[in-house]
Parts: sequence; structure tokens; C-alpha cells
Amino acid sequence: MKILRVDELPWARIDENHRRVFVRVDFNVPMKDGVVLDDFRIRQAIPTIEYLLKQNCIVILASHWGRPKGSEEEKRKKFTLLPVAEKLAEIMDREVLFSEDCIGDGVRKLVTDGRGGKTIILLENLRLDEREEANDSDFAEKLFAHADLYVNDAFGASHRAHASIEAITHFAKTKGMGFLLGKEWEALNQALHHPIQPQMAILGGSKISDKILVIKNMMLKSKDIFVGGRMAQTFLASQGYQLGGSSIEEDALPIARRLLAEAKHLGVNFHFPVDGRAGTDIQTDKGTIVKIHEKQPVAKELAIFDIGPQTLENWTATLKKAKSVIWNGPLGVFENPAFAKGTLGLVDFLVSVKDTIPTIAGGGETVAAITQQNALTTLFHVSTGGGAMLEFLEGKELPGFEALKLRDREVEALVSSQ
Ligand code: 3PG
Repeated sequence: MKILRVDELPWARIDENHRRVFVRVDFNVPMKDGVVLDDFRIRQAIPTIEYLLKQNCIVILASHWGRPKGSEEEKRKKFTLLPVAEKLAEIMDREVLFSEDCIGDGVRKLVTDGRGGKTIILLENLRLDEREEANDSDFAEKLFAHADLYVNDAFGASHRAHASIEAITHFAKTKGMGFLLGKEWEALNQALHHPIQPQMAILGGSKISDKILVIKNMMLKSKDIFVGGRMAQTFLASQGYQLGGSSIEEDALPIARRLLAEAKHLGVNFHFPVDGRAGTDIQTDKGTIVKIHEKQPVAKELAIFDIGPQTLENWTATLKKAKSVIWNGPLGVFENPAFAKGTLGLVDFLVSVKDTIPTIAGGGETVAAITQQNALTTLFHVSTGGGAMLEFLEGKELPGFEALKLRDREVEALVSSQ
């Protein structure tokens, strides 16, 4: 089974008049009051768009945004992709036409009037039609009604079997992945199936329960796993540490114990913080350094919100021995500068070793921390996926990739029939 990348499609045989391409992108970007706050995902889709324009295509972009709720009118107002169309036009310095509907005559007219190599159309938020999430076949057919080719470049949404990702591929004879999807596949596939050893993993964030399968899988790929964030507190609490007023995931204590027993059995070293930055109030506190030790309870009024300096020093000393690193999840509440030194210090360290240790990092908050340190293009690979990256690392087959797979026979037929 093979997935063709957009530059492997049989362009020489594709008629110039049949180069209308439906491109599924993930423009689910942070946005407030109509202002795009972070354009990372938009920028990552541009190589595919530019490539298609060079092939004289008309590019029809489609994305979801948010999880629309409320009345029809409220949804249309609050969940429109119009600001994203404006942002894309600004970044590409090209005209981007916006279609107020994602199916129907409006789209048909924009496409019919379009010019190959010039026209970029962004369709309105796919999730304004509930048939998108239902993977509705009829809706998918309508989405593809004005296109000849299908390209998926929405890695961040490829764990969703939705109409624009899965059902639509049944209507497209010629289909493939964009450059972003290809890049994500290569990087994550390497970490999962051909890790450069020693590969070390850094896992942070809030809930062990969200990451059990990733932790289990990482134990098979990495002998050293560093755990920060609230997850570390839950693991430590499961071992009897008294962490004062720190938040822990009570329900996950038995799972934490089981995972540690499994790690011991497999000879995997879990590295937990030996100190932390704590406070009484996450918003206002400036952060006090506390020791984390089995026999030394943290004061009741203090809660840990970040790893401490000794932890960062110990961890980076070990991480220097890695040949590759995979990182998902922040080590503390880095939105507050008092509790950001652990996470941002880790970014700085990974940047300092970038020439010898390739890092693959991802997850919404992790990407935000990397962005804060201007390191998005410095690290080896920063994934655009949150849930998609986690499901990939769990070893799951993602619908977005599955739907693009072609049998060898199909690839041959495709090339010869164009
Ligand atoms: C994401 O931001 O992780 C993707 O765009 C998927 O969004 P969803 O979780 O709302 O499906």
C-alpha cells in the first residue's frame, strides 16, 4: 500500500483543465475576536498550496475550526473562517477568495470563474454543517463536486474520520498527501518505528489518563523517560510522596503504579522532578523552590507549578547522552512567567543541542512554548498535531492516512489512465 505525495501525482497526464484540487488543511488555529493569535498551522500548509499553484491548479482549501455550538446564527458569526482567509492572504501576499458556504452554487461559481495557478479559495468552516463530523457520504460528494483531485494536508485533523478526511476520498480517483502530511509522517514514523537510539522521551502535561497508551508505547522505544507537569505529581503521589497542595489526578493513581511496575520490568528509567517551583496562588505567586523528596513533605499551603532548577540541570545532563528526543507536553504552567523556567529552559536546551540531537516535539501547549522561544524552525520537527500526534504515537492507524492508501495496482491504473 502506498500513499502518493502531491509531487508524485501523475501531473504530466493530468489535463490542464482538470486541475481543481480540494485540499483539506487544518486551520484550527488559536483565534480570539476575529484575530488569529498563532499562524503556525497556516504557514505549514503553504508549501503544498504554492506547489499546486505552480502546477496551474485551482486550489480549494477546506478546514474545520473549533467545535461549533449554539444557534445557527451564533455559530455562523462565532465560528467563521473569514479571519483565517484574510491571514492566509496576508502571509502569502496573494488574493484568497472566501466562500461563505462549503458546498453549493457559491463554491461552484468561484471555482468556475477561477484561474489555474492563481485562484485560492477558502471554504467556510466545515463543522458548520454537522454532516462533516458524521462522515456523511452525501455531504462528502457535494464537497468534492467541483474538484478533480484530492489532497490531505491536515495532519492535526487526520485522527478524525470526518467527511472531508475519510468519506470524500471515495469520490476522488486521484488523491494524495500534502508536503506537511508527508513531513509529519516521516518524523513521527521514525520516532515510533526506527528511533535513533538512545531515543529519550519527555512527557508533560496534565493527565496520565490521556497519555497511558503513549507512555506504554514510549516505554518500548525509549529507555529514559522524563516526566514533568501535573503528570509527574500523580506518579510521585502514587509512590507516597506528600506534595502539599499540589494538584494530582486521583483517579489515575492505580494506573500510575501499574505503569511504574511495567517500567521496572522493562528496565526503563522514569525521571521525575527532584525539586519544583511552588506557590500558593498560580496567578500572583512569584514561585518558591521546594525539594521533592519521599521523606520531606511539601508544605500544605504550597502547590507545585513547575520543575525546579536542580531537576532541569539533572535532566539536561542525561539528555545530552541522547541521539534523539521526543517531547510532548509542558513541564509546568509556563503561561505564568514565575512557572515558565522549566519548560522554556528545556526549549533553550533542546535548541542548544539541535545540531547533534534531533528533537521531535508537538502538542498545542508545547508548540506555544517553542513559539515563545522563537524555536519553531530551529528544532528538527515541530508537529502541528495535538490529538493526532498522540494517536500516532499510540501506534493507532489514523483515518487520514488510511483513506489515502492505494494498492500498487491502483497506483499503476492511476498513472496510465490519466
Ligand atoms: C486539533 O486542534 O487538535 C485539531 O484541529 C483537531 O481538532 P478537534 O480535536 O476539535 O477535532
